Amino acid sequence: MRTGATHRLRFGILSTARIGRNALVPAIHASRNAELVAVASRDLGAAGDYAREAMIPRHYGSYEELLDDAEVEAVYIPLPNSLHREWAIRAAERKKHVLCEKPLGVSVEEEQEMQAAADTNGVRLMEAFMYRFHHRTQRLIDLARSGAVGDLRIIRSAFTFRLTRLDNIRLRADLGGGALLDVGCYCVDISRRLAGALPVEAQAWAHIGPTGVDTRLAGSLRFEGGPIAQFDCALDTERREFIEVVGSEGSLFAGQTFVAGTGSQEIVERHGRGAEVRHAFAGEDSYQRMVEHFGDAVLADEPVRYGAADATGTMAIIEALQRSARASGEPVKVGEAVR
Ligand SMILES: NC(=O)c1ccc[n+]([C@@H]2O[C@H](COP(=O)([O-])OP(=O)(O)OC[C@H]3O[C@@H](n4cnc5c(N)ncnc54)[C@H](OP(=O)(O)O)[C@@H]3O)[C@@H](O)[C@H]2O)c1
Repeated sequence: MRTGATHRLRFGILSTARIGRNALVPAIHASRNAELVAVASRDLGAAGDYAREAMIPRHYGSYEELLDDAEVEAVYIPLPNSLHREWAIRAAERKKHVLCEKPLGVSVEEEQEMQAAADTNGVRLMEAFMYRFHHRTQRLIDLARSGAVGDLRIIRSAFTFRLTRLDNIRLRADLGGGALLDVGCYCVDISRRLAGALPVEAQAWAHIGPTGVDTRLAGSLRFEGGPIAQFDCALDTERREFIEVVGSEGSLFAGQTFVAGTGSQEIVERHGRGAEVRHAFAGEDSYQRMVEHFGDAVLADEPVRYGAADATGTMAIIEALQRSARASGEPVKVGEAVR
């Protein structure tokens, strides 16, 4: 719906997920072009509590009812990964635009189905990968791609933390859990953007925990022309987040790479034994920037920056890594179909 310059995109949230409460609700409230009008939960009481706490006007005891709300123009989906596909498609069929948490689906095929539903129904679909919207992320990619550290040779990254609750959705195989889909996807995503292409081959080793998901995984990606990326991700270690980009003539390092928070951040550029260059970035909220981009695109009837065609690139790499891990580290070609 386009009702002029002051119109704000009216969001409904599917579920009382932690990430909505902690990040997206504040981001939508703070945004210049979106507002929250409804929340739905499988539990009406939980939806009511959430709505009061988050100052959301309406609440529902089922996701279906929220999709029936004609005032809702867009939904934000922070459901367990295995439910993204179903609810994104149902929302699209009700002509709601969809901002869906990462990873968009749990396979390339699912993500393509989601995009097909969005296209058929004339709505926007975007993967909510907030770290891409931080100015530092974009600068890191620009520095690496512009030859600031010479020819790109090695990309090293990690995203690990320790889960303390065993009932967490990340430990459920049936809900699309596992370290690779939860946090490894960030390392994979940034590696391909830094390299500027999809890798040719992927290789991984995983530790499978007692619930049947990968609680730890180390992977390698080989890119055409030489660059190699290595990363590790885990749900059962100390928290770490970093990216290091190593070129023929220097390196770039960024800590707290993915969940950057709202404080100031930096990229450290090094060249041999010479002085370090510190690129400084003022604090900003990546979630708010993501919401505002999505709102701008929908309200202006323009494409989103990160639809399913983009998401399938990262998912094709994840699928290859999963296959390699199942085959004890055998190298696997990354899907030709999405290259
Ligand atoms: N971008 C980021 O920074 C970021 C950070 C964390 C998570 N995420 C993503 O956000 C999504 C949600 O993660 P989260 O940690 O916020 O999840 P969470 O707190 O466990 O919430 C998931 C919600 O899904 C609903 N749900 C529906 N069916 C369910 C089922 N069978 N089992 C459990 N919950 C079910 C529940 O809401 P109701 O009971 O209210 O229906 C639940 O509150 C995931 O896709 C994750 O990858 C993104």
